[in-house]
Amino acid sequence: MKTVTRREFVRDSGIVLMTAGAFQGAWAQPSERVRHAVIGLGGQGRRHAKVFGSFPDCELVAICDVDPKRRAKALEEIPKADTVKQYEDYRKVLNDTSIDTVSIATPDHWHTPIAIAAMKAGKHVYVEKPCCHNVHEGRVLLEAAKKYGKCVQHGTQGRSGEGIQIAVDYLRAGNLGSVRMAKAINHQLRQAIGRAEESEPPEGVNYDMWLGPAPIHRFTLNRWHYNWHWFWDYGCGDLGNDGIHQVDEARWGLGVGMPKAVSASGGQLFYDDDHETPDTQVVTFEFEKCYLLYEMRLWTDYPMEGHDNGVVFYGDKGTVHLGRKGSEVELIGEERKLIGSGADIQAHIRNFLDCVKANTPEKLKAPASEAVISATLCHLGNIATRVSRKLHFDAETWTCGDDQEANALLKRAYRTGYELLEV
Ligand SMILES: NC(=O)c1ccc[n+]([C@@H]2O[C@H](COP(=O)([O-])OP(=O)(O)OC[C@H]3O[C@@H](n4cnc5c(N)ncnc54)[C@H](O)[C@@H]3O)[C@@H](O)[C@H]2O)c1
Repeated sequence: MKTVTRREFVRDSGIVLMTAGAFQGAWAQPSERVRHAVIGLGGQGRRHAKVFGSFPDCELVAICDVDPKRRAKALEEIPKADTVKQYEDYRKVLNDTSIDTVSIATPDHWHTPIAIAAMKAGKHVYVEKPCCHNVHEGRVLLEAAKKYGKCVQHGTQGRSGEGIQIAVDYLRAGNLGSVRMAKAINHQLRQAIGRAEESEPPEGVNYDMWLGPAPIHRFTLNRWHYNWHWFWDYGCGDLGNDGIHQVDEARWGLGVGMPKAVSASGGQLFYDDDHETPDTQVVTFEFEKCYLLYEMRLWTDYPMEGHDNGVVFYGDKGTVHLGRKGSEVELIGEERKLIGSGADIQAHIRNFLDCVKANTPEKLKAPASEAVISATLCHLGNIATRVSRKLHFDAETWTCGDDQEANALLKRAYRTGYELLEV
């Protein structure tokens, strides 16, 4: 008997794919292609477009951005661009029933709203880090991933790094003795952004859609491409930007989930410009049997610690170091040795596509269940910095007990017309 593939079924019956759930994962032949769209076309979205489109069993069929210049730039870089549809409004991407998967590489404040809408439209989702802009969104995202049963891969590609997996196995096997502390280090030289005047948005841009759930604010070049990272309305500072990679890997290596307490301090010792978020930050996450420290300096260059951004695990027998060049072990009295290579976005996207095709969300390397915890740590670190006191986090209620000021920062107000969809 001939197996009717999902695509043949849809083509022959003419039904729309809102019923996709029943057929998801029915890619009968390994060679059958996943149809992918990228939403948000800055540096990272264009990287997605290239990598997704490079796999023989994945076809980049659509791109979406509120900025026509960004769409044009992406199309210039895409092979066979004439076959790729372009959209300004992500809802049209989600309504396109021929699309199986989307990646979300917009600013952070759009990650969860689009991810939830995408799952509701039957799509699998590759969402950039941090997967949520606040703790409440993370909780809802997790609920949606469970309810809709879709693959949700988080852009913490370190989880697919072979060397990091080797280091985690090394730690788990007890080779370092008891590991009671890990340090997640994010130090790099980031340029100041100066002060930008209010102005009209560039012509053709849908700035209202760019703002989305965030409050209306007049356009400035700093509250725009890339620099939005440094404003709380859209970004999460560098803790939620680069720091989340190190926090996620440190948490993975320690084998811990939500923290019981978080204390932090941070501010601007370096920038004197439009930045709202800190350039210097120290956060301590407390767990039952260990501590995770986060240390951030945005005014020192990479080589300072002998490795670039990374993680150090401290055990009674020595240390394990994770960095971009790979994973290293230094046992007390012995030379430091390399045990594995660094992270790789190619492998992470491959893992996502494999899980989509086999309909095995449980085999994702960075599923929503891990993503939301790591993002929550970053949000709590920022909240503790902003309220300047220790937070006691209750993982049952997802609140900071009776600390009302901190609890208010666990969620945001959504602008009318851009509310989070109900799950
Ligand atoms: N995993 C990684 O290592 C990694 C590396 C870089 C960036 N990122 C993440 O990727 C995301 C994008 O970063 P970037 O540096 O490319 O930012 P960017 O500001 O350069 O690009 C974001 C793009 O999204 C578009 N956009 C905004 N709202 C939109 C909407 N509603 N619909 C469609 N398009 C919309 C913007 O116009 C812009 O072109 C961030 O969340 C960042 O944290 C991840």
